Amino acid sequence: MRTNDAQIRQQLSALGVELQSGIALSALTSLGIGGTTDLLRITKHESIPALLNLLDRNNIPHKFLGGGSNLLVGDGELSWVVLQLAKPDPDVVIKGHLAHIDAAADLGRTVTFCAKHDLGGMEGLIGVPGTVGGALRMNAGAYGTQIGSYVTEVKVYRSAQRKIEILRGDQISFEYRHTSFAPDDMMLAVTLSLPSKPYKEILQGIRICNEKRRASQPMGQKSAGCIFKNPPGTSAGRMIDELGLKGLSVGDARVSDRHANFFVNAGRASARDMLTLIADVGERVEKTYGIKLENEVVVWSA
Ligand code: EPU
Repeated sequence: MRTNDAQIRQQLSALGVELQSGIALSALTSLGIGGTTDLLRITKHESIPALLNLLDRNNIPHKFLGGGSNLLVGDGELSWVVLQLAKPDPDVVIKGHLAHIDAAADLGRTVTFCAKHDLGGMEGLIGVPGTVGGALRMNAGAYGTQIGSYVTEVKVYRSAQRKIEILRGDQISFEYRHTSFAPDDMMLAVTLSLPSKPYKEILQGIRICNEKRRASQPMGQKSAGCIFKNPPGTSAGRMIDELGLKGLSVGDARVSDRHANFFVNAGRASARDMLTLIADVGERVEKTYGIKLENEVVVWSA
């Protein structure tokens, strides 16, 4: 990769960017799948416009990585570098009913941190792996909660404008697993306005969601959560289950026995195995139900 160039390394370091060469993305994704590339960790949001100019000038393609939990990365040597925010300390600051959160903060920890300050609303998101930035970009949701409902302000690197902007919540549209951000915008920080609730009550809600999740989803197995979005009015998992496809495998990529919309890496699955399984299941659903499923998992090909 071009980041080996001594001059580029020097400029990265001047921007406060830590370079880690030849990183296996399988170690940074919850699916445990992904080839190798260079990882650039950003310690200062303000350095991002200059960093992207530097990469563009040197024809180095890039992608933004959040927590790697909703992501299927291609195999082998990857043709782009990965940018990731380093987590500041503290990553969440509470002022009244507002939580100011860095995009690199862990979502689950943020939910419990806010709970300890008697701020609730996000109980349903407990157990959703990944960062707050990743959840925000795709409007993650579960058990009737979606993060977008609480957003009052977002600090974002706007790729098209090549600058950092602050957007108000009402300037962003949040839909089911979709937002109006451009695919190459980078979430930097968010302010959530959360309802006041006693800690004990929030904890009770968290326990209920944890139980529901444990009862229906594979925990402790390598997965990217649901593979397909739910088509309007129906559940992709139920359709795949009805077709008897639980346990269907390609190599070590396998439709979970627990929840048919979770595909797990049962060992050393490759991206190719997982993509073949996704295509196969998608075709079978379309043939029987006439519904073309849309990926929920984000795919970065090599
Ligand atoms: N079902 C089956 N078999 C299965 C899976 C589900 O019959 O293998 C049935 C269930 O019995 C239920 C219905 O399908 O009657 C819906 O299942 P579930 O409640 O598990 O919800 P889901 O629609 O499959 C969605 C989200 C999940 C989220 C849960 C809980 C999507 C694609 N999935 O799943 O989100 O955790 O609701 O709110 O929107 C994710 O985004 O990655 C994800 C896992």
